[in-house]
Amino acid sequence: MTAPVGIREAPGENAPRLLEVEAMTVAFGGVTAVDGLSFGVNEGEVLSVIGPNGAGKTSAFNCITGFYKPSGGHVRLGGVDITGKRPARIAAMGVARTFQNLRLFGELSVLDNVRAGMHVRIKQNAFDAILHTPRYHRSEQEATDEANRWLDFVGSRGNRYNEVRNLPYGEQRRVEIARALAREPRMLLLDEPAAGLNHNEKEQLLDLLRRISDLGTAVVLIEHDMGLVMQVSERIVVLNYGREIADGTPTQIRSNPAVIEAYLGAGDDVEEEAEKIAHQSDDQIFGRTEGEQA
Ligand SMILES: Nc1ncnc2c1ncn2[C@@H]1O[C@H](COP(=O)(O)OP(=O)(O)O)[C@@H](O)[C@H]1O
Ligand SMILES: [Mg+2]
Repeated sequence: MTAPVGIREAPGENAPRLLEVEAMTVAFGGVTAVDGLSFGVNEGEVLSVIGPNGAGKTSAFNCITGFYKPSGGHVRLGGVDITGKRPARIAAMGVARTFQNLRLFGELSVLDNVRAGMHVRIKQNAFDAILHTPRYHRSEQEATDEANRWLDFVGSRGNRYNEVRNLPYGEQRRVEIARALAREPRMLLLDEPAAGLNHNEKEQLLDLLRRISDLGTAVVLIEHDMGLVMQVSERIVVLNYGREIADGTPTQIRSNPAVIEAYLGAGDDVEEEAEKIAHQSDDQIFGRTEGEQA
């Protein structure tokens, strides 16, 4: 089967597994946010994780990146068990992320925010830093050059000396992505990167995601904007009440009755409902776009 124009083909079955989430459970008191979730991400793949608000998407990201400890299950990166490891350790192993609610240093410049993302990679020790050795200056300059390259890549170099807090929201989102990319991750996790963006900014984001994918970086995307999800994803995992209810290509997901039911609460007439909406736009089908926050 050939994919429609603009929709990417799923990668070969042989692409090596990068991330393996196995039977992961996250509980907060009485709430089970993630309930025995299993899915994998292949090297270089663009995978979207979708589902209604409260489905457990952000909690799953937080477990993968070490911000939460799962109460059950395992997370493996390149075959290495990273379950319950600290965020800095997991980041150093090649996993970078952005947050649903931006986490930037508002009073620092754009450039310094990106440089801050690189601290794990700067080749200097405490001795160099305290005594400002030649090696310190060299590595600082290298960090600045590289940060500028990433700002070019996301299209934000023109703002590099501005304080982040003075930038429009869409621009701040790009800076956060540049900061994550500056770690040269094997996998980048983005939590609702299109939320709050206007149409043009979403187009730019789509282009940016494709260029990130072209670098060979695996991209895992939590996103409500179905237009974006359908265009950029090779595969989509759908969560509802902390469980995976579907895993497939965009084409498979858009006609999956369980997915449609999760979004529409369609009750008994799911097949009929799916038939009725088959020709509507994605936004109409999923009814959830920007502006919705967990
Ligand atoms: N830190 C937390 N403490 C308590 N409950 C939480 C916490 N984080 C998330 N939850 C709960 O877990 C469920 C899933 O939330 P979340 O992972 O944010 O979903 P999503 O990102 O899919 O909207 C929700 O019921 C939410 O209220
Ligand atoms: Mg969320």
